[in-house]
Amino acid sequence: MNLPPELIVYLRSSTRVAVLTGAGISQESGLRTFREARDGLWTQYKPEDLASREAFAQNPKLVWDWYAMRREKVRGVLPNPGHYALAELERRIPTFTLITQNVDGLHLKAGSANIIELHGNLQRVKCSECGRATVEWVETEGSVPICLVCGGLLRPDVVWFGESLPRAALETAVLACRECEIFFSIGTSGLVQPAASLAYAARNRGAKLVEINAEQTSLTEKVDFALQGKSGEILPALLSAAW
Ligand code: OAD
Repeated sequence: MNLPPELIVYLRSSTRVAVLTGAGISQESGLRTFREARDGLWTQYKPEDLASREAFAQNPKLVWDWYAMRREKVRGVLPNPGHYALAELERRIPTFTLITQNVDGLHLKAGSANIIELHGNLQRVKCSECGRATVEWVETEGSVPICLVCGGLLRPDVVWFGESLPRAALETAVLACRECEIFFSIGTSGLVQPAASLAYAARNRGAKLVEINAEQTSLTEKVDFALQGKSGEILPALLSAAW
């Protein structure tokens, strides 16, 4: 694989690296990317139309079932070489922050430790009334499970369209991006804010930008290094070239 020699040298000598990942990094684990996620029964729905408070208010069971299907899929898959390469990179770089938009938990499974899950995690739910989060709940036939504390409907503990990101997580992410020497944007279409703006927070403070993506995105022309291809192939190659 042809990797830019300047990037390899720069990566090896860097002490502060920030990484933003999106659904593309989990594609080689067998999960569809966010914008492709229209399987089987769900082909008639756009993911964007299910991941919202309005959709949940209108038809909570439909939204609950969509997330239950995704949760089930995630349980059956494993991290891929891209996830493992990032976990390994964390061990080599003194200050390494992994920011993910994914709710699949695969970075954690691969052994990454310093992870900011900007959009939450599928395996957790929270009460839509009192906000209490939990990883344990009782499924109920034909309806959405309820909160054992206040009786409100449970919902996935993920960020929906139109909702704010968890404040502390976003602040930590922005800080890591402002302070890094290299920023990687991996497997994300960069269509959703504020995650998409993190690359600019890094670039404005002088970081080199690297994109790893199977396709061109709106960021591609603005980065210092655009590596086109699969993250599960490029990341391990980059790691072994640098060390
Ligand atoms: P998208 O589905 O928008 O984009 C996935 C990106 O991964 C695309 O740019 C693909 O080209 C790229 N890709 C696919 N396979 C790849 C591979 N093997 N290696 C490298 N790149 C690959 O997913 P996200 O950008 O993650 O938010 O979407 C961002 C957010 O939009 C999601 O977190 C979700 C959605 O709104 C919420 O639900 C709040």
